[in-house]
Amino acid sequence: MMLTHFPYVVTPPLTNCLESDVQAFLEANGRPKTLAHVQAVAEVCGQIARQYGLDERKCRAAGLLHDISAVIKPADMLHYVASHSLPVCEAEERYNFLLHQRMSRFVAEDHFGMTDSAVLSAIECHTTLYANATPYDMALFIADKLAWDQQGIPPYDEAVRHALDHSLEAACLAYMEDTMTSGRMLCPHTNWTLAYDWLTQKP
Ligand SMILES: [Fe+2]
Ligand SMILES: [Fe+2]
Repeated sequence: MMLTHFPYVVTPPLTNCLESDVQAFLEANGRPKTLAHVQAVAEVCGQIARQYGLDERKCRAAGLLHDISAVIKPADMLHYVASHSLPVCEAEERYNFLLHQRMSRFVAEDHFGMTDSAVLSAIECHTTLYANATPYDMALFIADKLAWDQQGIPPYDEAVRHALDHSLEAACLAYMEDTMTSGRMLCPHTNWTLAYDWLTQKP
């Protein structure tokens, strides 16, 4: 089990109800803010699912699990990925927390038994997106940004909501452009750059 690599992570027994299992896990590991965030993201992702005819159950599950690796220290994420000979890009090397999207996929799969490839893919790219993103990838990417984990309304809120009336692609692009022009971008992740190029070149 991958979580045995992190002895400080508490693993309450699973009940097969994802909602309660995620809640118990995050509470047991002292992450009430992450719990409130993932519940909000699941809600928004469910709304996007209804708007775009996606499977609401998958969108909610992706929302609940997307930040599940918040219980792992960022430096340990880097060590885990490097010790498994997995590639690490410059942005992940400099800002280890960027690895949390990939680590959350591992935890979702390995600990919570998530097998749905649409859900796992969405979790794995929820911070950066990737080129050829699926509607599930884009739905979670947007939901995570609209239900952000900081105080107040995000600066891009109106632009992203407006774009979401047009398409998932437009909403992703609106968020990315705002991030790049506002100076919030720490270091462009390889997948982010590829996703941006893909979105801007789409007909
Ligand atoms: Fe995240
Ligand atoms: Fe998040």
